[in-house]
Amino acid sequence: MIAKIGVLTASDRAHAGVYDDASGQAIRDCLAEWLTTKHEIVYRLVPDERATIEAALIELVDKEGCCLVVTTGGTGPARRDVTVEATLAVCHKPMPGFGELMRAVSLKSVPTAILSRQEAGIRYAGAQESDGGALLVNLPGSPRAIRECLEAVMPAIPYCVELIG
Ligand code: MTE
Repeated sequence: MIAKIGVLTASDRAHAGVYDDASGQAIRDCLAEWLTTKHEIVYRLVPDERATIEAALIELVDKEGCCLVVTTGGTGPARRDVTVEATLAVCHKPMPGFGELMRAVSLKSVPTAILSRQEAGIRYAGAQESDGGALLVNLPGSPRAIRECLEAVMPAIPYCVELIG
């Protein structure tokens, strides 16, 4: 079976067409480079609206059947940065180690990495064990940050996805 992976970009400006979604593309490039198994990307570009982000995340896991969803954008302290809140709201379990590791790695190159509130968590797709679920991982908005952060957590992702079932 080909695994489905969700890529969700939360950005008011990319959504409005003010600029191209370079961050979503950066995630696709990293996954293409690092994943050894066959996969299909399911892509969503949404504005920084909490309800819209939550609905898109739920759809990616429950309807599309993604086993992994990677988000970019909306992890900072600005008022409209709400991706982290949306992610935790739809998750059944937080996975704090992901955010901890990503911030620790990012802090080696940028002191502003402390502003990054990114989290990760697990959403189960239904009430049955056989329904499976997905690991949701937040990444910051900049393409450089995406590469650094995703590279750091990548080794743990396949095992985590396997344990979710
Ligand atoms: N992490 C890394 N590795 N590199 C960066 O440049 N930028 C930080 C932080 N984490 C940064 C980073 C800054 S300045 C902010 S405001 C937040 O991520 C931005 O998160 P957002 O773009 O997802 O809102």
